[in-house]
Amino acid sequence: MEFAIEINNLSKKFGSFTAVNNISFSIPKGKIFGFLGPNGSGKSTTIRMLCGVITPTSGEGRVLGFDLYKNTEQIKQNIGYMSQRFGLYEDLTVNENIDFYGSIYLLAKEEMNERKKQLIEIAGLVGKEKSLAGTLSGGMKQKLALCCALIHQPQLLVLDEPTAGVDPVSRREFWKVITQLTATGITVLVTTHYMDEASICDIIGFIYNGDLITMNTPEELFEKHHTDNLEDIFIEYVSKLSSKDAVLSFKEIRQQGKEV
Ligand SMILES: Nc1ncnc2c1ncn2[C@@H]1O[C@H](COP(=O)(O)OP(=O)(O)OP(=O)(O)O)[C@@H](O)[C@H]1O
Ligand SMILES: [Mg+2]
Repeated sequence: MEFAIEINNLSKKFGSFTAVNNISFSIPKGKIFGFLGPNGSGKSTTIRMLCGVITPTSGEGRVLGFDLYKNTEQIKQNIGYMSQRFGLYEDLTVNENIDFYGSIYLLAKEEMNERKKQLIEIAGLVGKEKSLAGTLSGGMKQKLALCCALIHQPQLLVLDEPTAGVDPVSRREFWKVITQLTATGITVLVTTHYMDEASICDIIGFIYNGDLITMNTPEELFEKHHTDNLEDIFIEYVSKLSSKDAVLSFKEIRQQGKEV
């Protein structure tokens, strides 16, 4: 089996603070890997190491076969990245934003125009090509950001909370695009706090305080925890690991509010 990501005992320390602690996993090519965990658990730090932006403190890893220490430029050239705060230029049009990102990767004009047309179609932005990015809805902006991240045909797409603050319909549209992309062989690493999105992933990793707690398929998690509610499973992990009092369900919170 070919792997898009392979890491072994990877750690990142900031001074004496360990943000990522000896984590290991391998993601086969063409899969969607959902990286879950509470705020501050180490997801973005792991992603920064995998994108070749920060150097790990220890451990080893390869992304698309490129070494995390020696081949960081090749990694950056061969992956696509977007986050909640992806840098779109609000006063440039949809077309101009995509052209700008294409020019960073030195794509030839013909190749870029062909690819741009395909992406605009996949993302459902046909008719918006000449609209200023600043005038698009939040959901459309994220789809435009996705087009920009994909213009150079990366084999690995890294999405750090791509749908934060996006409405439910637009989130589904966004994910439809993602699943279409993986059908073409692209591997996706995605972080999200939306558990409905996580359940679409092929593999789920759960990180807490820098430790990788579990790596399973959603089906394996459902079987192990006797529920198909991923949010309940997430809360069960956090409650256990943080020795917090039982976290109330929304229904219980609502009930309590009425009793006051
Ligand atoms: N450059 C840095 N210097 C010092 N500490 C850092 C640095 N970057 C991250 N951290 C710390 O590392 C921990 C993990 O942060 P990280 O951003 O990876 O979390 P996360 O899982 O992405 O959280 P969120 O869900 O809120 O995005 C946090 O405690 C954070 O404050
Ligand atoms: Mg983060």
